[in-house]
Amino acid sequence: MSIFKKITVIGAGNMGSAIAAGLVKYSDSEICLANRSEGRLTNFMNAYGNYSNFKVTTDLADSVKGSSLVVLAVKPWAVKDVTDQIRENLQEDSVVVSVAAGISIADLKMMIDRSSVGVIYMIPNTALQVGKGMTFATASGVEDAKIDAIHRLFAPLTRLKFIDEAKMGAATALCSCGIAYVYKFIAAAAQAGVELGFSYDEAVDYFTATVSGATAVIESSDLTLQQLVNAVTTPGGMTIRGVNELERKGFTAAVIDSIISPLKK
Ligand SMILES: NC(=O)c1ccc[n+]([C@@H]2O[C@H](COP(=O)([O-])OP(=O)(O)OC[C@H]3O[C@@H](n4cnc5c(N)ncnc54)[C@H](OP(=O)(O)O)[C@@H]3O)[C@@H](O)[C@H]2O)c1
Repeated sequence: MSIFKKITVIGAGNMGSAIAAGLVKYSDSEICLANRSEGRLTNFMNAYGNYSNFKVTTDLADSVKGSSLVVLAVKPWAVKDVTDQIRENLQEDSVVVSVAAGISIADLKMMIDRSSVGVIYMIPNTALQVGKGMTFATASGVEDAKIDAIHRLFAPLTRLKFIDEAKMGAATALCSCGIAYVYKFIAAAAQAGVELGFSYDEAVDYFTATVSGATAVIESSDLTLQQLVNAVTTPGGMTIRGVNELERKGFTAAVIDSIISPLKK
């Protein structure tokens, strides 16, 4: 049994619903999903009504009563409003996890304004909804036993790594924003596939399988990325012509800039 007997997720948008769904499916905790309006709660009830370990509510203040873990998954500009509503009902030794991008640990502590409450800033990405992807987190005032329990809770949902807060911006740019660039790469390849005679859906399907194959090879191989490229680029062959064309068109520079540019002011 998790040490977090009751977990409240506030915000039933894309991220809050994905986290709540994972917790409902894989944890033995009692889950409460709270949202200020009813529509998204109804959608969640329709999707997960066959599970009995959760309830939904529009009463944000009441939702955190008795919760040892509270996940804030509302828009960054709504975090202050929500913490104002829940502060009085937060359990003394609870942990608040915020996934709101750009809201620092210092901001969170100031908004929560309860010194006994541990604080975690977490940056997931949408692959969490399928139990994949890379999530980063940084914590303040959270005991090791609770960090371990959070690792166990999130293990079926995502890879999770706790890092220094100074690296959270870089982690967000690389992995949270980065998933969009992978979608764009697949979409671009599919456009080429259509020109070559496949339907768009076929091209997306086939190229997604190619990307998935490449990631599986990287994860299972001891070879470096350059050695893997060398292994598929026969001298004088087709693939090296395509690889060199990528470089002539600035592929590497474009990817580097796309990952770094969100961090530039
Ligand atoms: N999506 C991602 O890939 C991703 C990745 C990393 C971090 N995040 C973070 O996750 C958080 C939620 O993003 P999302 O993509 O799930 O957005 P979303 O689908 O638009 O959902 C936003 C949620 O915030 C609630 N909300 C908005 N204003 C509120 C207020 N003033 N008081 C109470 N609740 C309010 C909405 O409630 P209503 O249903 O009533 O409008 C909804 O539940 C954001 O802070 C974002 O930075 C998202």
